[in-house]
Amino acid sequence: MNNPHRNMDMVLKLTFTWWLWWLRLGVADPQINLLNSGCSQYNVSDVSNFYTNLNATFLDLRTQLNNNKYFATAQQVVGSESAYALVQCRNYLSNADCLACFTAAVSQIRNCSAANGARVIYDGCFLRYESNSFFDQTTLPGNQGICGNRTASQPHAFSTAVDGLLKDLQVATPRINGFFAASKREVVDSSGNATVYVVAQCVETTTESGCQNCLNVASNSIQVCVTNIDGRAVDAGCFLRYSDKPFFADNQTTDISSFLGNGGSSNKNAIIGGVVGGGGALLIIALFVFFIMIRRSKEVRRGDILGATELRGPVNYKYNDLKSATKNFSEENKLGEGGFGDVYKGTLKNGKMVAVKKLAIGQSSRAKADFESEVKLISNVHHRNLIRLLGCCSKGPEQILVYEYMANSSLDRFLFGERRGSLNWKQRIDIILGTARGLAYLHEEFHVCIIHRDIKTGNILLDDDLQPKIADFGLARLLPEDKTHLSTKFAGTLGYTAPEYAIHGQLSEKVDTYSFGVVVLEIICGRKTSEVQHVFDGEYLLERAWKLYENNKHSELVEETLNPEEYTVEEVKKMVEIALMCTQSPASVRPSMSEVVVLIKSKGSMENRPPTKPGFVDTDRKVRGDTSTSTGSSASNATASISQLSAR
Ligand SMILES: *[C@@H]1O[C@H](CO)[C@@H](O)[C@H](O)[C@H]1NC(C)=O
Ligand SMILES: *[C@@H]1O[C@H](CO)[C@@H](O)[C@H](O)[C@H]1NC(C)=O
Ligand SMILES: *[C@@H]1O[C@H](CO)[C@@H](O)[C@H](O)[C@H]1NC(C)=O
Ligand SMILES: *[C@@H]1O[C@H](CO)[C@@H](O)[C@H](O)[C@H]1NC(C)=O
Ligand SMILES: *[C@@H]1O[C@H](CO)[C@@H](O)[C@H](O)[C@H]1NC(C)=O
Ligand SMILES: *[C@@H]1O[C@H](CO)[C@@H](O)[C@H](O)[C@H]1NC(C)=O
Repeated sequence: MNNPHRNMDMVLKLTFTWWLWWLRLGVADPQINLLNSGCSQYNVSDVSNFYTNLNATFLDLRTQLNNNKYFATAQQVVGSESAYALVQCRNYLSNADCLACFTAAVSQIRNCSAANGARVIYDGCFLRYESNSFFDQTTLPGNQGICGNRTASQPHAFSTAVDGLLKDLQVATPRINGFFAASKREVVDSSGNATVYVVAQCVETTTESGCQNCLNVASNSIQVCVTNIDGRAVDAGCFLRYSDKPFFADNQTTDISSFLGNGGSSNKNAIIGGVVGGGGALLIIALFVFFIMIRRSKEVRRGDILGATELRGPVNYKYNDLKSATKNFSEENKLGEGGFGDVYKGTLKNGKMVAVKKLAIGQSSRAKADFESEVKLISNVHHRNLIRLLGCCSKGPEQILVYEYMANSSLDRFLFGERRGSLNWKQRIDIILGTARGLAYLHEEFHVCIIHRDIKTGNILLDDDLQPKIADFGLARLLPEDKTHLSTKFAGTLGYTAPEYAIHGQLSEKVDTYSFGVVVLEIICGRKTSEVQHVFDGEYLLERAWKLYENNKHSELVEETLNPEEYTVEEVKKMVEIALMCTQSPASVRPSMSEVVVLIKSKGSMENRPPTKPGFVDTDRKVRGDTSTSTGSSASNATASISQLSAR
């Protein structure tokens, strides 16, 4: 059966093919055949700031590639517009080809003008940038298979071989350090003269299971190409390609056998497939073609793959997944209770940690569609000082929001809780500045003005670098209109609430400016706005701050645990002045949050713009400052009155 002549013939043919290919490959080939590209539909607001950052990330990526890397990420977060970028070359490229591919991608991606996100996928490399971090993303809607236009001469034998090798790579690649594998396999058919070449790759920033998930999706997508002699699958976090033509060198194949375990398919399957397939081949081909035609027609309508809209929609989580992620919303997983509901720590199946918020806003009068459109809006808010909303889940009366997880918890723990006294002066100023930036974005830069209405230290979370991220923004929009004010439970917490809002329900973004001012004082003093009255003879934090400021004794406000060498009297004065400016009344004299950002960054004090006396809510003593008893009741029950200290 085994004819030595035939084998010799085959060897010669193969050798010749490789030779031809080596000649071709000897010439540099960065493989810039464009597979996919696209721009986000959102523009950044400060284009020049963004481009400065983006250019810096591209420069950083290039430096890393120059150092023989094939995968690199970079981020630049100077100013209000952060830029995050990722590049990945197929590992079989030469370093020069990798750089050439990157260069082509950079010039192509610039076609996206002011977009805050874009990507280019070539055969040889992948480049993407966004205004928020995306490095751990793997599979996203819009992933797809991209088929070549040549049909195999022995479709069944060929696709069997492709299938087998794809399956093996799917198993092996996530287990390989660097998540890259290149492999080839002979097609066993009557002529026995073909070989398939397959490459699988995941982004190095993902996990083994993330890579696994992504490749599972990709190998599904690539099924649309079964009768084609080459095909690819692209996704945010992985890449698959097969061809009957070699696109990597023979000595660049990966030995995947040790990573297969028991799950691998072998050449035997291909042989059996080839033999069995011989008889029913016609029927099978006819069926394949039929299905592919159906699938293709769907493919076309999908349009721009990995498109911006698809990338940015909120994820709809399954209730059961969230239930198991939070151990059935167990007490042990509970992170806290907020005004809008309880928050739980969750670990998703892919190992990612999330914060799961069960909304307790009751059967709101808003329809489900409204909920979804609000969630969509909030999930499109991207700023490094604002918590990312990842997705939602709505099942029956339950409405659940899923957020990125912050291990460091909230600012109140650092100021008043178990980590009291651990923040130094510089860290405090950074937190104040970041919070101001986040608010400025919500008020002025996002395309809809979002008023937070409940700024307080408990809603400011801290990331690993102690940078602030504001939580719970946009949620007040989910409340029925009649509940948005005069109810301390939902909108605003006494002590932080601007007088015109607490009493008259007059809502403007200056309501947040007021609360921000109170938070600044708390950060400086290390005391709660509600605590001060007990300690200082019934004096309200703002009153006390004003009196000390007026008598030029503002330094007394600073928390005693702070090292006096870390700050100057002028710096303290400036921060107190900013806080007092933010809490002035009427609301119109308070600075906007972008002005606050400028003031914080400026040098010296507000000589030419001294604050006037603050306005504050002076309520019944039992409501004043005691948020725990007032949370259920309405502030309108208390005899609230606006007390504007008269200017002398
Ligand atoms: C960024 O780089 C591009 C291309 O090199 C250049 O045209 C542009 O002026 C740069 N922008 C900034 C803000 O540096
Ligand atoms: C990108 O822009 C350049 C210059 O306008 C143009 O020549 C090129 O064809 C564009 N590329 C794509 C893929 O749109
Ligand atoms: C984004 O900016 C580009 C150019 O600056 C402009 O052509 C485009 O219309 C803008 N898109 C949106 C959605 O504002
Ligand atoms: C197949 O695609 C290549 C590259 O896109 C093109 O040059 C070639 O003409 C196509 N062949 C057929 C038969 O459509
Ligand atoms: C394999 O051989 C058949 C006929 O012998 C030929 O038609 C086909 O093009 C060959 N395929 C390759 C990849 O050389
Ligand atoms: C692969 O082979 C080529 C040419 O034979 C050689 O230049 C190259 O160094 C080899 N690469 C590896 C990784 O062995």
